[in-house]
Amino acid sequence: MSGTNMKFGTTDKVLQVNSPIFVGNGPNTRSLESCMEAIDAGAGAVEVSGPRGIGSNENFVRLDQFQLLPSKQDAFKNRYFGFATTGARKKWHNSEFFIEKKLEKISKLKKYAAGKCLIVVSVGSVDYRGTGKKGQELSWAEMVSVSQEAGADAITLHLNTGQQLAGKMWTDNPDILIDIIKEAKKASKVPIIAKLPIEGCDPLDLAEIALKAGADAIAPTARYIGLHIDIHQETVPEWGGFHGYGGPWSLPITSAWTALLTKWDRNCCIIPGGGVMSWQDVVRLILVGAKMVQVCTWPILKGYGEIKNAIGCIESWMKERHYKSLDSFRAKSIDNLIEQEVVWGRSYDKGPYEGVVVDKDACIGCSACVHVCYFGALSLDTSNSAEIDKTKCVGCGCCYHTCPVDAIRPPDKLTEPKATYTFNNRILE
Ligand SMILES: Cc1cc2nc3c(=O)[nH]c(=O)nc-3n(C[C@H](O)[C@H](O)[C@H](O)COP(=O)(O)O)c2cc1C
Ligand code: SF4
Ligand code: SF4
Repeated sequence: MSGTNMKFGTTDKVLQVNSPIFVGNGPNTRSLESCMEAIDAGAGAVEVSGPRGIGSNENFVRLDQFQLLPSKQDAFKNRYFGFATTGARKKWHNSEFFIEKKLEKISKLKKYAAGKCLIVVSVGSVDYRGTGKKGQELSWAEMVSVSQEAGADAITLHLNTGQQLAGKMWTDNPDILIDIIKEAKKASKVPIIAKLPIEGCDPLDLAEIALKAGADAIAPTARYIGLHIDIHQETVPEWGGFHGYGGPWSLPITSAWTALLTKWDRNCCIIPGGGVMSWQDVVRLILVGAKMVQVCTWPILKGYGEIKNAIGCIESWMKERHYKSLDSFRAKSIDNLIEQEVVWGRSYDKGPYEGVVVDKDACIGCSACVHVCYFGALSLDTSNSAEIDKTKCVGCGCCYHTCPVDAIRPPDKLTEPKATYTFNNRILE
């Protein structure tokens, strides 16, 4: 990506990246070939699975299970699908998941990337307290050391799993979180990314703990505990148990926490993930402060061709708006974020979309807006174009967000002037 000048890491550890796309570790990065594809597509970083720690004996690999929600047919159309991982493990001797094979893959990728793309290694442990060594099981420091020796440009500490309420676990046991990050940091010459939960906790508290312990970046990852009942089997999925779910439905949650984290610490390097399925979603997260944006479910389902196209689309969008770098629009959308108490304390005559207009040339007469307007302000005229009765319109914006062809134009100014923001007793600028 030309002219992005994107920086990754905190002041003492700055790495240049070529695009904001951070391909997250998942089935899409398990093979060497799929990682190479991600690099060729123009990813700024590719995250691969590194050695696993105590409790995750490398003779066992996780058996991924995928579910498309709400159903196979509707999944793509409605964008509601989610991916599930159970944490169920399969005995898989001599598999590519052995440490040696993983390290070999990291070295090969590093060479292949030739400085064009960061190779990030995600390390994790089922037993977060584990620091000893047993067979192929490694401590956090050892996982970090061997990964960077193999060529990792940055290391992710995978501190979030969808199978346990990690947010509560860290909130109740901050000392363990601090120990892990400090241990990793001590062993590391490269940036440390803390992949943290945003469920079951105040994510700002966890971010504060992680940054104080030495993390160089925060990756608030949206894997949520989920459950999907299969009505054919009338039961929980094959292996039982809850699943770690992600997918497009989680984007607004990811966006909210990215915005709040950015407001709380403008210098924090945030690499959010969860629900990104289009180039517009990438832009959305940068607008609320993301330095890079994790993508996983998207390339799994649609392939790396989409990522390549997305980078082109982001470049065109930037060009149109005369943005020379990602920094020039990063966090632009959060200045006008208003805390809920302030909104409640005000009274408005009309909603923020007062003054929406229909572009009759663009309207295809589908009547979607007519159905969503509960105020009776929309109807189709004799030429089958939507028209708005301004006396009935309350400015709710439902029509604008529903029109499939963007024929409803919003009023020029939607946002309020900058205000100081208070969240959970923190003053956020
Ligand atoms: C099937 C699956 C397995 C994953 N396994 C890992 C993992 O082992 N380590 C890790 O750091 N992240 C893992 N992730 C999380 C992704 O790297 C990424 O943070 C997250 O999926 C982004 O959300 P999205 O899938 O909605 O794009 C996994 C994601 C999926 C979908
Ligand atoms: S903004 Fe709301 S009230 Fe006004 S026309 Fe659209 S849907 Fe109806
Ligand atoms: S939803 Fe859009 S395209 Fe459909 S009738 Fe309304 S304005 Fe026209």
